[in-house]
Amino acid sequence: MRQLFEKLKTASLEEIRGAKNADALRQIEVKYLGRNGEFTVLIKGLKDLPADEKPSAGKLANEIKIALTEAIRGRREILEQETLAQESNTEFFDTTVPGAHYEIGHIHPISQMQYEVERIFGEMGFSIMDGPEMESEYYNFEGLNIPATHPARDMQDTFFVKNKFHDFHGKMVMRTHTSPVQIRTMERYGAPLRIIVPGRVFRYEATDAGHDSTFNQVEGLLIDKNISLAHLKGIMIEFLTRLFGKPIKVRFRPGYFPFVEPGLELDLSCVLCNMKGCRVCKHTGWMEFMGAGMVHPNVLKAGKIDPKIYQGWAFGFGLTRLTMLKYGIDDIRLFSSGNLKFLNQF
Ligand code: PHE
Repeated sequence: MRQLFEKLKTASLEEIRGAKNADALRQIEVKYLGRNGEFTVLIKGLKDLPADEKPSAGKLANEIKIALTEAIRGRREILEQETLAQESNTEFFDTTVPGAHYEIGHIHPISQMQYEVERIFGEMGFSIMDGPEMESEYYNFEGLNIPATHPARDMQDTFFVKNKFHDFHGKMVMRTHTSPVQIRTMERYGAPLRIIVPGRVFRYEATDAGHDSTFNQVEGLLIDKNISLAHLKGIMIEFLTRLFGKPIKVRFRPGYFPFVEPGLELDLSCVLCNMKGCRVCKHTGWMEFMGAGMVHPNVLKAGKIDPKIYQGWAFGFGLTRLTMLKYGIDDIRLFSSGNLKFLNQF
């Protein structure tokens, strides 16, 4: 009997020590100490022993049972710690490893310039307006006092959109300038007004370093009582000086646009040579910058504003051209090229 017990003890302890995981350990426990376990069966047999052998055999059986139970408990603890260690190991997060580097985009140079222009005019009390890129002939031309015979309407200049979109305002075109938003804003908000309109415009043009079929403009419109070109000059000097971060001079020259009277061209002192004369300003010290003028009474009327009470000025400059000027970019096609060697410089 004693031998049987000892043998079972040795065998079971060995199995317990070798258990690879909690499940295996549980099976070993059942195998020896379960209801019909090998050890349980042996204990049950104790009652058949002769009376004088019972006490010592019982004592031994108890000792072994305690030893097995202890061994199982100990092994279980070790296994639990092992799994814990494994789990925390897979979740280990090394805070000293440099983060993964993701390429993220950045703001396009023309948009950067647009935000800058919006900021400066915003500080001077101008609101930012928006309008559709696909316009009716009415807003793009008629409302702006541009007659049907005007050469700008020619197929050479304008993208006409196929008839599906025609409405009572005439054929639809890709707007050739941001000026249609002058009328839209007057109709909607009336006078007084102080707005700029950055936006994309389209012209049917052969592409070269200086021309693209799509480019960006900024329209300006100020309407109030007792407004003169002196206000325009003041605003433009202030705007350009803030934008370039150095004093800029401007000059007016006569210019013709059907929607202004008088109309003018505004030049600015060359930002590259500071009027000393260089290749870019063709040694004149001046650079052409924008068209402008006092809003034509017919345009005010189209916008439902009474020209006897209100007057104002409007201007339109090329945002694309301004960006080229500011950064010395000599090819307009770079902006839409998607060329990262170019774009990543901004
Ligand atoms: N719309 C004109 C252009 O595209 C610019 C302009 C705007 C001129 C407002 C005068 C007044 O060239």
